[in-house]
Parts: sequence; C-alpha cells; structure tokens
Amino acid sequence: FPSTFITLPNFSIQTSTFLPKTSQRSIFQKKKPFNFNSKTVVSCKASNGKQNDADHTSFLNRFDRRDILLGLGGGLYGATSLVRDPFALAVVPIEPELSSCGESTVDTGKTCMNVPCCPPELKDSKIIDFEPPLGCKIRYRPAAHLVDRDYLYKFELAMERMKALPVDDPRNFMQQANIHCAYCNGAYSQVGFPDQKLEVHYSWLFFPFHRMYLYFFERILGKLIGDPDFAMPFWNWDSPCGMTMPQIYLDPYSPLYDENRNLEHQHVLVNLNDGKSVIKQEKNEEDGFDKLTKREQEREQIKSNLYVMYQQMVRSAKTASCFHGAAYLGGCVSETDIGCTPEPRGGTIENGAHIAVHKFVGAKNPPYNEDMGNFYSAGRDPLFYAHHGNVDRMWNIWKTLQGKKRRDFDQDVWLNSSFLFYDENANMVRVKVRDCLDSKTLGYDYQSVDIPWLRSKPTPRRSRPGVGRGQDQGQDVLARRKSKYLRRFPIVLDKVAVRIEILRPKKPINKKKDDKEEVLVLQNIQLDRNDSVQFDVSINDDEDDDNPCKPEDAEFVGSFSNLPHGDDCHSEAMLSTNLYLPLSDALEDLKIPSEDRFIVVTLVPQEG
Ligand code: C2O
Repeated sequence: FPSTFITLPNFSIQTSTFLPKTSQRSIFQKKKPFNFNSKTVVSCKASNGKQNDADHTSFLNRFDRRDILLGLGGGLYGATSLVRDPFALAVVPIEPELSSCGESTVDTGKTCMNVPCCPPELKDSKIIDFEPPLGCKIRYRPAAHLVDRDYLYKFELAMERMKALPVDDPRNFMQQANIHCAYCNGAYSQVGFPDQKLEVHYSWLFFPFHRMYLYFFERILGKLIGDPDFAMPFWNWDSPCGMTMPQIYLDPYSPLYDENRNLEHQHVLVNLNDGKSVIKQEKNEEDGFDKLTKREQEREQIKSNLYVMYQQMVRSAKTASCFHGAAYLGGCVSETDIGCTPEPRGGTIENGAHIAVHKFVGAKNPPYNEDMGNFYSAGRDPLFYAHHGNVDRMWNIWKTLQGKKRRDFDQDVWLNSSFLFYDENANMVRVKVRDCLDSKTLGYDYQSVDIPWLRSKPTPRRSRPGVGRGQDQGQDVLARRKSKYLRRFPIVLDKVAVRIEILRPKKPINKKKDDKEEVLVLQNIQLDRNDSVQFDVSINDDEDDDNPCKPEDAEFVGSFSNLPHGDDCHSEAMLSTNLYLPLSDALEDLKIPSEDRFIVVTLVPQEG
C-alpha cells in the first residue's frame, strides 16, 4: 500500500520503481536512448516487492510495439516479475476464444455456483468482421423518463418479441442476458492462452464492450419491430428528474419489469455515491436536531449526486487512464502482471456511479443480489440496458469536456482488442474496440438533455460558514480527533480515518505548458473481492472526523469502491489494485501553492 506522487503526461505513468534492470536497459539503449530518470518522481519507495503497476499504458505509450515485445521482460514489467525471459511475455490484444467457452462462475466467498452462459453454438463456424453501418442517419436514444406513449408501445412490443424468441435463438432475451454473464464471469479464455480468463470489467475494456453489447441488443429490438431506426431509452440518472428508476420499468405487467429488484427503492432517489438509498438521519432523530424533512433530504441527495457526477466526470477523470481504467492485456504468462489479470483497475464512472446504480437496483437477496446486484444476472433486468445507455452516454460526454487530456487511448493493443456478438440476423460478428470509438459512426447518439452537474463545481469547505470544524468551537477538540496520523505504509483502514503526509513532485507542473497532471496514487490496495468496500479520499481537509469531506467539498478528491465479484470458485479471494486520483483541480480550488512540499491525504473508511 505505498503511496506515490507522480506527474503524469497524459496517461503515462512512472515511478522510481520502474527502473529497468541493467539487462533490460541495454535493450533500450540500443534502440533509442531513454532516460528513465528524466522526470524525477518523488515517491515513497514501494515497500512491497509485488509491484502492481496497474497501468501498463505507461509502457505502451512510451514505446512502440516492437519495443514492448522486446523489452517487457522481468524488471520493466514488474519489479519482481517471475519472468526473466523477455520473450515469455507477449502483449497482445484481448480476444475471446469462442471454442473455449465454458461455465461461468459466481462466487461470494461463502457460496459458489456455476452457471451456463455460453452462446448457442455457431452453425457454420463463420465469424464476420464487423463493419460500421453506412447510413448517415443518426438515431437518438431518448431519456427513459421523457418517452411518450407511442414510443413505449413500440419498445414494449420489441421486448416482448425478444423474450418470445425460441430459447436457443441467440437473439432471445435470456441469451442476450447471458452475454453479460459470459464476459463477466470467466466463461471465455484468451485466444492462445487457455489459462487466461477474460473479464470485461475493471479495465479499459469496460466502455467498448458495453457499447457494442448494447448496440446489438438495440439492433435486434429494431429488427423485431421492423424499425432499423429504433433507439433504446437511457436512464438519465445524472439529472434530477431521472434519479429514480424510470416509471416505464415499474409496471409489473410490462415486459420491462423485473421482479428481482429492491422494491424499497422503486420510488426513491438513487445515491450515486454508494448505491444505498438516501437519508441517514437516524442518529439525530431522537433529539430532533438536524432532522430534515423528506423534501429537504431529497434536495440534499440530488445536490450530492450532482457533485458526485462532477467529481467522476471532470475532476477525477482528467486522463484516459483515469476515466477508462487501466490496461488489460492478452497473452501474459506471469501472474504478477496485473495488466493480465482479469481486473487491473476500473475507471471513475465504472467504479463509481455505475456500480452504485447496480447495487441500488439489485434485490437485497443474499447471497447473489440478483438481478442487477450481480454481474452474472444483471443482463436479465431490462433496466440494465437503460442503465448502461447512460454509462455509454458518459463516454460521449467525457470526450466533449474541456482539456486536451480527455482523449481515448491510441494504443493498438487496446484498439485491436475484440469481442464476439450475434447480430440482428443471428450472424456472429467480431467487433474491435477501434470500431466503436464514435457512437455516431455506429449510427446513434443521445437525446440532448441538460447536464446540470457541469455546474456542480465543489468549493473549499473551510471557506463556507457553518461547515466543518467551525461548528466545533467550544467543544473538546481533542476528543473529536479520532483519526490516526500516520507516516508509513502499509496501513490498515477499518474504522477510523487515516491521515498521511505526502511529499509532492519536486518540479511543479506548469498547467499551461505541460500536458501533465499531478496524480495521487494509492498502490497495492488489498481487499477481499467478495466484500463491499468503500473509502473516500480528501486532501488538506479540516480534520473534522465527525463530518468528513463530501463530493461538494473541494478537499474531496475521490473514492474507492468495490462491488463483490468472485469469478472463480475457491480462487484467491484477495484482490490487489490501485487508485489514481488527479489532483490539479483540487490544488487549484484550495489555492495550494506549488511550492508547498507536502499535502495531507485523508482516507475515510465508509464501508467494509
Ligand atoms: Cu457489465 Cu454494469 O456491468
């Protein structure tokens, strides 16, 4: 759990621990001299030998493919990589091996089951390479809470027909739901590497996979009602009027309904920060202090959600790596290479609002929280597709936000990663990431609605009266300081907040000149993959532990969260991952001068 500050040119990442061993260095010096120390990194040295640099994008960005293939052995790839032979690692795009499809596994740590999720067998073993449609017409996906009756009639008819298709038709609704299960619970392996199980969550595959999954789902619906221009609705949960489950999905007699949901949440505002429904006022209810009316609480919830969106889309999502997540590669042999494990690190929206909504909708049924609360079953709820419509919409919006760092990756190993789907004519199609970067090329876009969170820029808490420590005047300040102040890793985060003082990069970043970002890195976060876990991170806060910083405070810089997700019975339950939080906006909002050598980072445990 070492912590490091680094400067980050776009998504390339360096820490001092990436210094190549002498043998590797010679390889590079022959080709192009590269000074690994050129951007000095101020960091606590990694104390744990297992160097999980989740971001292989760093290398991919810096060297061309040949360099990677030549040089990514041992030392460079991971400080204690088991692999010493540079040729033992071949970094190739992700590609599912169709013939390997086997049962999917759902594991909670206590219980485990296998589910068959593979698609129907390919008849003539012909796989077509996907080509984007030629038409110039764009279909606009409407916000689910805004659709009219005619639209609803068409949509319901299409869904009804999809559910009524023969069970072994790949376009049948259950078959469609199973696509998600197969790609999320380890049904496929990587072409040529039978031991490498594929998983499309928690990495840079997240947005492309779900985009194409929805694309074919939508094409099938259109085909079933003879309307190739049919566009699915999206759940506009980032806007006040869309923050409850859309009404059209709540009618028990509709094909859009799913009984495996949390019924208590049917008319409740979603909490985009943790998926729990609002309103945690019980503590104060006895003395009547701070008791808010339902209205006021809802207003608070909406406000907080908008700040969360701003946080996850703007402040914390400045680079491709932060927004999309870490590189996930095929063809690796070493187990210490986190880019080859099924879940290197998810991006801000994936880990944040996306998971919060899954948890919010899923039933409270232990152990699996079907349907939306577990990836294996999520696709069985028609609401899933509306939810992911909005997630997909966030990808489009992100690319329009200011800042030249908000560009998709351009590495071939990402662009050439591929997935397999049955299309609307029941032909199997291979889609590459490069085919789906622009939704307009695919023939669709989203109804343009207001984006209120763009105006939800947080403000420094200390400058607002009546918030934070100011309230505590006259109380025993010592008693309130329950947090631990630490200076060394590793740390254990359980009940109380932890503060750590961290050294910043020596050379200040010139925001105008450098295409760089100052990033806080929490490396080697270890947790049980079957636990719900969340902690929040803030910098230079006012040390009020009863009232930790929230997304509306400029001090808040992001959160870490985990949705329980075992995907291999009796496999290692320990998950080891990293968190990357861009800081430049917070530093600016808090007016922390670049000469300040230290900042204080606060980790506030919220769950698990
Ligand atoms: Cu594939 Cu929302 O999950």
